[in-house]
Formats: sequence, C-alpha cells, structure tokens
Amino acid sequence: MMAPETYVLLRHAHRTFATLSIIGFGARWLGVLGARAWTQRRTAKTLPHIIDTLLLASALTMAYGAGFTPENAPWMTTKIILLLVYIGLGVVALRPAQPRPRRLVAGIAAILVFAHIVAVAFTKQPLGLFAG
Ligand code: HEM
Repeated sequence: MMAPETYVLLRHAHRTFATLSIIGFGARWLGVLGARAWTQRRTAKTLPHIIDTLLLASALTMAYGAGFTPENAPWMTTKIILLLVYIGLGVVALRPAQPRPRRLVAGIAAILVFAHIVAVAFTKQPLGLFAG
C-alpha cells in the first residue's frame, strides 16, 4: 500500500498535468487555426507528449498504489479509453493537413471529451454528470 501523503502528492501532480494538458491543447488548437508559426516549432510538439505521459504515469502509479482495478473501479477504465479518444481527436484537430472544418469539430469534441473525463474523475462514475 502507498503512503497517503504520496497518494495526495500524486493526485495534485495528476490534476496539474491535466490542467496543463488542456491549456496547452487549447492554445495549440487556436494557434493552428490561426496558422501561427510557433505551433510548428519543436517545443510546441514535444512538450505535450511529456505532459500527457506524466499525466498517465501519475494516474497509473496512483491506481497501483490504491489497488484500483477494472473490476473495483470501472470509472478508471472509462478514463483510460477516453484519454485515447482525447489524444486521437487532438491529433486530427492539430494537423494542418486536415480541412479546417474538421479541425474545428475535432477540437470542440476533444474539449467536450476532456470535460467528461474530469466529470468521471470527480463522480467516479463512467457516465459522469449523466449518471443521475
Ligand atoms: C485527460 C485525462 C485525465 C483527466 C483530465 C483527469 C482528471 C482528473 C482529476 C481532475 C482528478 C482529481 C479528482 C478529485 O480530486 O477528486 C483525477 C483523479 C484521478 N485520476 Fe485522472 N484524469 C485523466 C486521466 C486519467 C487516467 C487515464 C487514469 C487511469 C489510469 C486516471 C486515474 C485517476 C485516479 C486514480 C485519480 C484519483 C482518484 C481519487 O483518489 O479521487 N486519470 N483525474
């Protein structure tokens, strides 16, 4: 079992990486839609991978430390799947080769999926705010 202090620290880190991830995504998405040069620089492309890796690593370490499994915490499975959906939509939203309307719709969908992941995190229900 993980020390409670370690768990709380990891949860703080996890929330921070989640916040950085969505702010970074929003900024790049608006930047790509506005054809800003900085969005194609190496840092703008590499940093998100580092943040998202840390987001997932903090999550998996917490899950391991708390003994969460797909059986006793189905909401976590939902988060893992939706994280992949968020990343996939993000790829479409940020790719300059994609038609602009598709980048727009994919970006909005990515933000909505992210919002649902946050709702799942707080409610511990796969349906989040729709759980009733
Ligand atoms: C974009 C992706 C994600 C976002 C935005 C996100 C967001 C959050 C937030 C805001 C919390 C804090 C909830 C609270 O304070 O009660 C949290 C907690 C947590 N998340 Fe995530 N998360 C993401 C991905 C994941 C993934 C993929 C996993 C599983 C591998 C995961 C596992 C956890 C765990 C175990 C907690 C701690 C639950 C608790 O003790 O209350 N998260 N997440």
